Order: sequence, then structure tokens, then C-alpha cells
Amino acid sequence: MKIDLSGRAALVTGSTQGIGAAIAAGLARAGARVGVNGRSSQRVDESIARLTKEVPEADLLPVAADVTTEEGARLAAQALPQVDILVNNLGIFGSEDPLRITDDEWRRYFEVNVLAAVRLTRLYLPGMTERGWGRVQYIASDSAVVIPAEMIHYGMSKTALLAVGRGFAKQAAGTGVTVNSVIAGPTHTGGVEDFVYELVDRDLPWDEAQRAFMREYRPQSLLQRLIEPEEIANMVVYLSSDQASATTGGALRVDGGYVDSILP
Ligand SMILES: NC(=O)c1ccc[n+]([C@@H]2O[C@H](COP(=O)([O-])OP(=O)(O)OC[C@H]3O[C@@H](n4cnc5c(N)ncnc54)[C@H](OP(=O)(O)O)[C@@H]3O)[C@@H](O)[C@H]2O)c1
Repeated sequence: MKIDLSGRAALVTGSTQGIGAAIAAGLARAGARVGVNGRSSQRVDESIARLTKEVPEADLLPVAADVTTEEGARLAAQALPQVDILVNNLGIFGSEDPLRITDDEWRRYFEVNVLAAVRLTRLYLPGMTERGWGRVQYIASDSAVVIPAEMIHYGMSKTALLAVGRGFAKQAAGTGVTVNSVIAGPTHTGGVEDFVYELVDRDLPWDEAQRAFMREYRPQSLLQRLIEPEEIANMVVYLSSDQASATTGGALRVDGGYVDSILP
């Protein structure tokens, strides 16, 4: 299967590092023009420099804006008025005692992880349906389905994203626009190595360390290693393609079998 996204414009929110940066690289490699987004120009420019090294032919556009605010969404629309592929990747996560999560924190998780994606969908979906082609995706998490007690607020936000994706897929029914969520599992992003070495023997090489960590702390994973960001990106690139035209309204798993379920 050859995926060709040339002529398509994409926006990947939160693409200065981690899964977002890998998605930006994947889409650019497939030929799309990609808006690289983060809150500061410096971080966006640094990310573009790294991505250009990785994918020399990449056509990348800086979109420095805090897209979790109305003003930020407006700035993004100015920088990139037409988007054919919208990847709502940005998200915050952290653990907290469920009985101590404040009202403000619940609101913050909803606003950053859910409302920002809804706002951008509202902004770009009408153009996609008018043109008769588009792809909207939401990066959810295994925590949307298996709610961790110490991350109820995060789990809530990711479950909400699945609902939002299914709903907007219905809104786009019959238009040539597909809308899907990707359920990412535990992924090897920045900071994760430090976290793993806090829990397992520091002298172990990375590969053994992550396997020891998975055995002990994530036994549900069938992969028994962390997922690489590129592995999440591969699904997003496929869903962005013409070839994925019959897949809409879904929640597709790249979770290494973490969620113990046959159905997605
Ligand atoms: N890592 C995992 O194991 C895992 C597992 C399942 C699902 N996920 C989901 O995958 C997505 C990406 O996770 P990640 O681990 O790659 O995240 P990450 O490393 O923490 O990166 C977050 C990205 O979001 C950007 N960002 C944060 N707030 C922003 C804002 N207000 N406006 C614009 N950009 C903002 C950051 O850029 P700046 O700091 O430059 O603004 C950064 O590029 C999230 O939705 C997460 O919930 C992650």
C-alpha cells in the first residue's frame, strides 16, 4: 500500500515532541504539508528543525498558538486557514488522589483535552465537508476504557473524546470526511525512561528495563514493551489516507493489546 498525501494540509496539535512530533513526521513523509503546533515559537521552530533533519523533503509550517484557548484557535486558523487532516493530539496527563482533584482541575482537564479538540473540529470540519474530503482524528488513550483510579480526570477526558469522535463522525456522514479516535497505549515518550528507572534496577540496559517494568507494572500489555511513537503515527497516517476511506466513527487501538477486549 502506497500512501500519498501530497496536496493535503494537516494540522497536528502538540507536535513539538512525543507522539505529536512522530505524527507530524509520518504525515510529512507521506507528502502532506504539516502545521507543527506548540505554545511557543521557539519550541515550534526547534521541532521543525529536528523534523527537517529527519524528513528533509518535509513541507512544515509553524503554528505557534495555545490552541486550548479561543484566541489560540483563531491564531491557528490564521496560520492555516484550510486543513484537510486535523489530528487532535495534544493532551495533558498526571496522577492525583481522586478525592483531592479540585473543581478547577476537573475543568482544566476538560478544557485542554476535550474542548480544545471540539473547538478545532468546529473550525475545520465545515470546510472539509464542503470540499468533500477530510480526516479528523482524536488521540485517546487506554485510560479512556480502563480508567485508572489515580487518573480519573484524565480517563474522563479521554472517554469524552471517544464520544466526541463518534458524534462528529455522524455529523459528517456521507460527506467524504471520516472521523476516528486512536486509542494509544503506554508509549515511549520523553520522561518515560526516568519514570521506568525509578521503578526498576537502574543498571539494566533500556530494553531489559522496559520489559521488567512492563512485566511488573503493566502485565495486561500483550506487547510487553512500550509502544514507540512512530507506531502510533503509522495508524494516524493510514487513517489520513485515501485507502482508509471506509473507516469512520471508530476507535482504533494501538495499545499493544493493553485493553482486555476483543472489540475495539
Ligand atoms: N505518552 C503516552 O504514553 C500516551 C499514552 C496514551 C495516550 N497518550 C496521548 O497522546 C497525546 C500525546 O502524548 P505525549 O506523551 O506525546 O505528550 P507530551 O510528550 O506531553 O507532549 C505534549 C505536546 O502538547 C503540546 N502542548 C501542551 N499543551 C499545549 C497547548 N495548550 N497548546 C499547544 N500545544 C500544547 C506540547 O508542546 P509545547 O510544550 O511546546 O507547547 C507538546 O508538544 C496526548 O493526548 C496523550 O494523552 C499518550
